[in-house]
Amino acid sequence: NYKYVTAEEKEGMLVVKKSELMQEQFVIVRSKINTPIYLSMPDATNLFALNMICTHKQCEVKPEGNKLVCPCHGSEFSNIGKVIKEPAEKDLGRYTVSTDETNIYIHIK
Ligand code: FES
Repeated sequence: NYKYVTAEEKEGMLVVKKSELMQEQFVIVRSKINTPIYLSMPDATNLFALNMICTHKQCEVKPEGNKLVCPCHGSEFSNIGKVIKEPAEKDLGRYTVSTDETNIYIHIK
């Protein structure tokens, strides 16, 4: 059970309202122009926007508790994208994130 947010692209960034992330440990950001992004705030100060495409053979990973698990060959990643179980060897791709008072901007370009 997790929340999906549909984001619009603006000037090479996906825009997500901060209020969407309230009360959630993470949301999945979908858009017309990008693969799904796992957006999480694992502590009070950091935001992580992770490309949900597995670095092993490009399946889409699924959230399980606070991990991301790949359905294809069982790789696991932490909620900040670090490999915790192979066969994947590389961490998930991470996007730069910036914020202002109301929005979170995921820099996809
Ligand atoms: Fe994800 Fe192989 S594609 S573990």
